[in-house]
Amino acid sequence: MATLTLERLLASMGFGSRKEARSLVRMGLVELDGKVLEDPFMEFKERPEFITVNGEEAPTVDKLYVMLYKPTDVECSHNARDHKSVFELVPERFTAMGIQSVGRLDADSSGLLLLSNQGDFIHKVESPKKGLLKKYRVTLARPFTEAQKAELLAGVMLKDERRPVLAREIEIDGDAVVVAIGEGLYHQVRRMFAAVGNHVETLERISIGPVALDRSLGEGGWRFLTDEEVAALS
Ligand code: URA
Repeated sequence: MATLTLERLLASMGFGSRKEARSLVRMGLVELDGKVLEDPFMEFKERPEFITVNGEEAPTVDKLYVMLYKPTDVECSHNARDHKSVFELVPERFTAMGIQSVGRLDADSSGLLLLSNQGDFIHKVESPKKGLLKKYRVTLARPFTEAQKAELLAGVMLKDERRPVLAREIEIDGDAVVVAIGEGLYHQVRRMFAAVGNHVETLERISIGPVALDRSLGEGGWRFLTDEEVAALS
């Protein structure tokens, strides 16, 4: 394996090419434990935990596992057309590191969105085979009836799907309904409620498997997943 030099470390963290990383060092913008690092070719035996670049104290991870509290009116696409992109809510360098959204939320949905640059992790969390339930808190345009609940739990046919899709759990939470599903089909929750004659007005994802939305982030806020959260999802 190539020796881990400072320029390589910075490049692996999305701070540009190795040449650009060298310039950051030469401009005196890189610090470790409060000391400015001057040699871009200095070698590390192991990755330090944090390094400060241009005032940002950045964990030196090259694997990204991020939780974002997605607001409405933001798109889960790198080339958002009608709104801002979720990738504008996290440091720009994450895009250089190959960050992707794990599944999607509609532009008019909010809540828990995971982002990662690890293909295996993305695949596992998205795969219905892994069986991670996703829970959504929805408010509805019309009263939610026992008959609608029974239909959703039994399964409804959605256009272009071969099999009925079912709600795995349904609970009432004040004026909202919390529904759990196992898949992540296009507009799935909105289409399921439409199929039983209701209409979703607001939709917020509150959990994916064992990981719950961290409301302390506030809409638009993000944090790294803890090691325990990554392990619980993997
Ligand atoms: N189901 C939907 O209809 N929209 C979402 O954003 C997520 C699940």
